Amino acid sequence: MLGYQHDYHAGNFADVHKHLVLWQALEALRGRDKPFAALDLHAGSGRYALGGLRACKTGESADGIGRLWEAPGVPWPAPVADYLQAVAALQREPGRLDTYPGSPLLMQSRLREDDALIACEMHPEAFATLSQTLAGDPRCHVHRRDAREAARGLFPPRPRRGLVLLDPAYERAAEYDEVAEMVTTIRRRWNTGIILVWYPVLKGRPDHALRERLRAELDDPWLLSELRVAGDPERHLGLAGSGMLVLRPPWQLEQRLVETLPTVWQALDPEGRGGLFRAESLENGTGDPTMRPVKPIQAGRTTP
Ligand SMILES: C[S@@+](CC[C@H](N)C(=O)[O-])C[C@H]1O[C@@H](n2cnc3c(N)ncnc32)[C@H](O)[C@@H]1O
Repeated sequence: MLGYQHDYHAGNFADVHKHLVLWQALEALRGRDKPFAALDLHAGSGRYALGGLRACKTGESADGIGRLWEAPGVPWPAPVADYLQAVAALQREPGRLDTYPGSPLLMQSRLREDDALIACEMHPEAFATLSQTLAGDPRCHVHRRDAREAARGLFPPRPRRGLVLLDPAYERAAEYDEVAEMVTTIRRRWNTGIILVWYPVLKGRPDHALRERLRAELDDPWLLSELRVAGDPERHLGLAGSGMLVLRPPWQLEQRLVETLPTVWQALDPEGRGGLFRAESLENGTGDPTMRPVKPIQAGRTTP
């Protein structure tokens, strides 16, 4: 748990996909006047220096946020333009990409006066940076708390309306089971919240067992969104794609993702090696779980 540091990966294509799904779920909550709580159980440090040693070692952000940043003239759909504006607002030098916001900072940027953010992080360095970054904002609460314990202790949150993001590093095979347990624990205590789970698309598809277990244990509607930048995950070494599972998705989220993500995928995967996929909302855990390609909106390219 303490070996992983997100600084090496911040702003990569998976962060962009995860954060755009998160952003649009937050937008749905902001669509009503009632306050909401946003919970981030694997928060990371919240702010990442893209010119830092760790980020430079992998260079992953160049193929992620860097591709969106350096795509002049692309008519981004409104939610993507808003997300890019939130990224732009963080930069030390206007117009130059040097910093990437993590999920807690993006959540904070969407809070209104009566909304709340609760963020948990176990790594001492990430926790210290996060606490410093959010210090002074009375709407934000940072805990050095194990996500598994937080799943038992923090739900239902106040306000009761809201969402939670589960985003572990998946460095241990057991983390897939731990995520399934956290989701069912949270669901038992909080039957109204939106639960978002990020998962990596990898060779052997370890996420399939997680999905099947959740389908067997829960009867909530859910949707999946996957953005892949490589062809067959079975022939790819490393991260082939990014997946987001949204339990009890807000109204119209699926449609919004279909409208916004194709342009983003085209920027992230200019050679069209991967694709953008979604599963239809699965009511009551039934339905066809097969991932369907999402057709890009712009002419000239089709998903494989
Ligand atoms: C993938 S990173 C999170 C990135 C962040 N959610 C974002 O999107 O910007 C995973 C984080 O979870 C933390 N972590 C891992 N296991 C944890 C646990 N059991 N409880 C709390 N935090 C944990 C790691 O230290 C790491 O910072």
